[in-house]
Amino acid sequence: MSTNRTFTMIKPDAVANGHIGAIINDITSAGFKIIALKYTRLTAETAGAFYAVHRERPFYNDLVNFMSSGPIVAAILEKENAVEDFRKLIGATDPSKADEGTIRRKYAKSIDANAVHGSDSDENAAIEGSFFFSAFERF
Ligand code: TYD
Repeated sequence: MSTNRTFTMIKPDAVANGHIGAIINDITSAGFKIIALKYTRLTAETAGAFYAVHRERPFYNDLVNFMSSGPIVAAILEKENAVEDFRKLIGATDPSKADEGTIRRKYAKSIDANAVHGSDSDENAAIEGSFFFSAFERF
């Protein structure tokens, strides 16, 4: 296994509910190293671009509205097998179906407001990390 990277966002619901510290603690306790970290906010335009891959899906407009509804935390994380291990740590998209102890199970209330994002491939992790962080912020 080689050490590699994934990208995450703590979504507006989890930020508004005061879970930033707890979620970052869960992430670092699971062995992920923080490479880059940013507290910011998406506009409808930037959220639409980030989720462009989903633009034909029925939930796209709601997703864009939700992701631009308040501040988020964006981060690049490093660990062996980062993408797969991080998706295990956050759990299923629908928090009611996520395993006990996962971040979504602990901090999310619904499939649309599900507390965290996690990249689904190494390729997307690189694209998404570059969306938020310039080259000198993610060395
Ligand atoms: P998706 O990439 O399928 O899930 P994941 O975040 O687990 O990789 O979907 C992206 C986001 O879109 C998801 O985190 C929440 C939202 N979404 C909905 O609002 N409704 C849905 O039915 C689905 C599948 C996703």
